[in-house]
Amino acid sequence: MSCVPIARATDAKLLAVSDLHVTYSKNREFVESLRPESESDWLLVAGDVGEMAADIEWALRLLSRRFATVVWAPGNHELWTCRADPVQLRGEPRYLHLVRLCRRLGVVTPEDPYPVWGGPGGPAVIAPLFLLYDYSFVPSGAMTAADGLARACEAGVVCTDEILLHPDPYPSRQAWCRARVVTTERRLADLDPRVPTVLMSHFPLIREPTLRLRYPEFAAWCGTTRTFDWHVRFNATAVVYGHLHIPLTTWHDGVRFEEVSLGYPEERQQRDVPAVALRQILPADGSSGD
Ligand SMILES: [Fe+2]
Ligand SMILES: [Fe+2]
Repeated sequence: MSCVPIARATDAKLLAVSDLHVTYSKNREFVESLRPESESDWLLVAGDVGEMAADIEWALRLLSRRFATVVWAPGNHELWTCRADPVQLRGEPRYLHLVRLCRRLGVVTPEDPYPVWGGPGGPAVIAPLFLLYDYSFVPSGAMTAADGLARACEAGVVCTDEILLHPDPYPSRQAWCRARVVTTERRLADLDPRVPTVLMSHFPLIREPTLRLRYPEFAAWCGTTRTFDWHVRFNATAVVYGHLHIPLTTWHDGVRFEEVSLGYPEERQQRDVPAVALRQILPADGSSGD
């Protein structure tokens, strides 16, 4: 097993957040306000930091200076190629550009050796995953991905990824997803099965959380059925994800799933519970969630 920084301090916490969307000034203020509780805290950032390369760099640089270790997995927004972004790379070259940026900042990416959390609640292998989606979370009544997409189109639900997230050099987003799943699955299978994992992905690994979406057709852009049992197969003590902008804790097969998104300012206004700054992943805080 590959080992990079190992947290051992007794007061250290493994914390998580996603969907910082720093394009919004209120979200930038939120990021500026984030501070670790101890100098040994780690932070998992599960994607959708922003769209513009400079914004992503700003946020990850700031966080990497404050937290002992920052681990990042890309969301769909980081992979958009926006006309206003001086970085016009598309698809995989854009992803790899962001990986290089993270390495300059000391931020761990899905392309790096998985670090081991050795602090309270550990040991646990922290596995940032980049898997994308393949439209296989089809809405009820649909039999195939194409059928599901057609229904989503009829309902007027189309993710902006269709315009801005290019799969280059893969022929499709499905093909890129398939390639990511194959290589990631191989890496996870090589881990010591006795050591628990924290699986961290922007997209939910299972379908169930998407059933809470206001527009169920949007599930097509939320994950892949190929990962439905990874939390069991790869001995997860927790699964961290975002993308849905529905922050909550649920349990599946005895495994804790944490949706940790900050989301858009208007979404926070509509929620009847105040946004929690950062979610504690380890040590488990003792609440059963759900
Ligand atoms: Fe998001
Ligand atoms: Fe997203």
